[in-house]
Amino acid sequence: MNGKYWYKDMVFYQIWPRSFKDGNGDGMGDLLGVYEKLDYIKSLGCDSIWFSPLYPSPGIDCGYDISDYMDIAAEFGGMDAFRKVLDGAHERGMKVIMDLVVNHTSTEHEWFKKSRERIEPYTDYYIWRPAKANGKLPNNWDSLFEGKAWQWDEVRQEYYMHLFAVEQADLNMDNPIVREEVKNILRFWLDMGVDGFREDVITFISKKEGLPDDRIMPKARGIRYFNHGPHLHEYLDEFRRDVFSKYDCMTLAEAPMVTPEVALKYIDERNEPVLDMMIQFKTQEADCLFTDFVHMPFSLTKLKKAYTKWQNGLEDKGWNMLYIENHDHPRMVSRYGSEKFRDASAKTLAVSYLFLKGTPFIYQGQEIGMSNWYPEDPEMYEDVQTRWQYENVGTKKSAKKRLQRLWYGSRDSARTPVQWSDGENAGFTTGTPWFYVNENYKQVNVASQQEDENSILNFYRKAVALRKSLSAVRFGDYKEYGKSSSVFYTYSREDVHQRILVVCSFSDKAKKWTAPKGFDMDKAKLILSNCGERDSLEFLPYESRVYLWDK
Ligand code: NOJ
Repeated sequence: MNGKYWYKDMVFYQIWPRSFKDGNGDGMGDLLGVYEKLDYIKSLGCDSIWFSPLYPSPGIDCGYDISDYMDIAAEFGGMDAFRKVLDGAHERGMKVIMDLVVNHTSTEHEWFKKSRERIEPYTDYYIWRPAKANGKLPNNWDSLFEGKAWQWDEVRQEYYMHLFAVEQADLNMDNPIVREEVKNILRFWLDMGVDGFREDVITFISKKEGLPDDRIMPKARGIRYFNHGPHLHEYLDEFRRDVFSKYDCMTLAEAPMVTPEVALKYIDERNEPVLDMMIQFKTQEADCLFTDFVHMPFSLTKLKKAYTKWQNGLEDKGWNMLYIENHDHPRMVSRYGSEKFRDASAKTLAVSYLFLKGTPFIYQGQEIGMSNWYPEDPEMYEDVQTRWQYENVGTKKSAKKRLQRLWYGSRDSARTPVQWSDGENAGFTTGTPWFYVNENYKQVNVASQQEDENSILNFYRKAVALRKSLSAVRFGDYKEYGKSSSVFYTYSREDVHQRILVVCSFSDKAKKWTAPKGFDMDKAKLILSNCGERDSLEFLPYESRVYLWDK
């Protein structure tokens, strides 16, 4: 935010705290567990951590329903444990960013409790509306998690808006006092030494005046009125001006449905940006329609189009945030890769995005090729969104089809505990894990991959180190080749010193690759490969290679 751009040289690691590592044996991941693993994270070549929420929360949405923004939940070890982790990270030269969830609070937050009682100054902290004269809801907007976006409150005798779970009430960001509260939260953590924020659905904070009915979007009514709303830029600029500009910190905004053109309104480095990076969703949509629950066959061309659109769209103007996994989507090996070819496909997925221009993020467990979880009983799902989907969508379908919809769509697949070893509970906890451990932990775990020079884990280490050593990856231009191929993703990165070519096969069969024009393969140096030193242009299933030409 002050033009230092340190985050452009870094690789981030995302921790979803409940499932990372339990340090005190109560079955829940915690900060003691994180502290134990700081060297592990560093050993991946990651120099920054993004923490999904650590704050006190009733846990309806696993921490994204916050009841106190200025504390750390006791179950994660409280503030002392957090300071220890923060210091430990800084001692290792690593940065730490927090999740800022201010589109909504938990209904257990003091603000909400006072607001529903109309105690000042909290009365207008949330979006309250009376019922319409005919007793109908204030408008027809949908919640993204469960049903309609309104909940009747018996105490206040009004509806409040909730774009997510019923227990996540939307804040009224149009109220200047609420914005002051947000700034106080930001200062609190920045003064403590955190290095920035990932801002949860921040593009939803400004709702269109009058909250009009939406007559167009049938399944996501209202989204065009609350996503990128009228005052979004103004409020983000206020946060930047009053807070972020005074610290050496970074901001990363979650932005559903954003395009590069829209993103540039916020992150264009040539015109005083109000944010540093945005999380786009397009690269998550190569095997589904908008939501993971509407599953489709994976299309490599869709994925490539999305990458290329973002690489070209931000070129020389803004900076990409690069990711393939996070806590909101099922695991990539099971989606764009192949569980049968876990090893090769996990590595190819890594290569496909780690050499793009931008700042890569690695989600816990991705680095060992963790894959989806296939419970036999729908009751085993924990996630609020998944449970609502199960109970309300496709209910006439067969039990098997309904269950499969969850297998492919539920984010719980990415929330099973990290598999540290082949020991009890995958080495995640000595107690009873809060959530199910994926049954494949005996084969897929950190301990066994540490030992194996050719493991997915050690491949990630190599790929990240290589990425950091190549000026073309940090600075070079991007160009895609063979756009229509449904097998290969081929792209080059080039600066004044070097040219690299990245080739990834997404096929489960051997396939012949043709070098693009102008690349003399006889002079190419193979600098990374997931199938050993091979020079045949026939690629093995999910083979990927990175070639270098020094200038
Ligand atoms: C996006 C977060 O990543 C997700 O986990 C959460 O459920 C929603 N925002 C609501 O906060």
